[in-house]
Amino acid sequence: MTALLGDQNQGSHVLNWDDRLARRTHALGGSEITAILSLAGATDVITFSGGFPEPSLFQTQVLADIAARLIADEPGVALQYAATEGLASVRTYVAGRLAAAEGRTPAAAELMITSGGIDCMELLAKSYIDPGDVVVVEGPTYLGGLMAFRGYEADVRAVPLDDDGMRVDVLADLLAGGLRPKIVYTIPDYQNPTGLSLSAERRRELVDLARRYGFLILEDVAYRELGFGAGAPGPAAPPSMWSLAPDVVLQAGTFSKIFSPGFRMGWAAGPADVVGRLVIAKQNSDQCAGALGQRMMEEYGRGGHMDRQIAASRELYARRARLTTEALTAHMPDGATWTTPAGGFYVWLTCPEGVDTVALSAAARAQKVAYVPGRPFYLDDAGAGGNQIRLAYCRVADHLIDEGIRRIADVVKSAL
Ligand SMILES: Cc1ncc(COP(=O)(O)O)c(C=O)c1O
Repeated sequence: MTALLGDQNQGSHVLNWDDRLARRTHALGGSEITAILSLAGATDVITFSGGFPEPSLFQTQVLADIAARLIADEPGVALQYAATEGLASVRTYVAGRLAAAEGRTPAAAELMITSGGIDCMELLAKSYIDPGDVVVVEGPTYLGGLMAFRGYEADVRAVPLDDDGMRVDVLADLLAGGLRPKIVYTIPDYQNPTGLSLSAERRRELVDLARRYGFLILEDVAYRELGFGAGAPGPAAPPSMWSLAPDVVLQAGTFSKIFSPGFRMGWAAGPADVVGRLVIAKQNSDQCAGALGQRMMEEYGRGGHMDRQIAASRELYARRARLTTEALTAHMPDGATWTTPAGGFYVWLTCPEGVDTVALSAAARAQKVAYVPGRPFYLDDAGAGGNQIRLAYCRVADHLIDEGIRRIADVVKSAL
């Protein structure tokens, strides 16, 4: 990036801002997320690209009423700075939700409100990662998590997934071989980008490894409450790792997928020492999550609207997931395989060998359909994901799913 530097005596010369970037930015991608977000407003494209909640689920009138009431009745709280760890009433509300869902109530010092799930990752990396520290992630994994750790020059290593989630046996071998991660990042429920979940047995094994080798598990539960089965994440769902081992697990939660990402609201629950460090780190980033958003989320939840929205969300996303896999069955060529999600926002499609899904995305755009190619979800050096695609069905209208998948299938077939 360049700019013209004016100088009255010497005219202007071109200043290269890229030369002045901090070294740590070199490992930072970001273009993929920018591309996903920039497509957000496109109306003529069937877009399977972003993990955006379906906007018709937003309860606009309820929210307008809550906002008007809070602004009129409590401007001294709702329009003011908040404590860095979050407003007390909001933390009590979130602690109650955790108690109901996970059977464990965090102590006051074990819970903070964050500005979304990504904030928790950023604060954790900022507080604990020195250049070269090892962080283990799932391969493939959420782009934002990769960026948070790379942003602090972590040595990020990937462990593959299978149908039961992260291959904890592969991690165990790496640990036995001497690898010493500070953090292991996992998305155990309906993972982004694969839709796969970590089995109950592996959750226990991972917790055992964390205690034995002394690393922190960062458990990202962004989609945990969006299971399609009856009562998920009720007693039948595998336990959260935070509920199993609050001594070695930091849970990063978000209200983006079950409420609204516009609020930038989430939580972090974990060991008091770790949460305390995140609070200090937050003091010199955004200082606090916005009070108006915190109170609106709390009022919305206490009024029962969150539970109703989650129930409606599960039903809607379950239907879209089914329509997506049915369309894949109808249109994809032989040799293509895909995951069948039991919750969340994503189907992970593996095209026949040799198909380059990055190269095909331009052809897809020409057909007015968009997806995210698989490659950026892996570490660059692994070279994996070249024939894979993440399909986010969450925000594609029911009646467009079949047509959108047919267009993607046509593009894939044209490459065979
Ligand atoms: C796995 C996962 N974690 C965290 C987030 C971040 O959500 P937010 O920062 O909006 O809370 C996302 C968003 O796509 C996600 O997919």
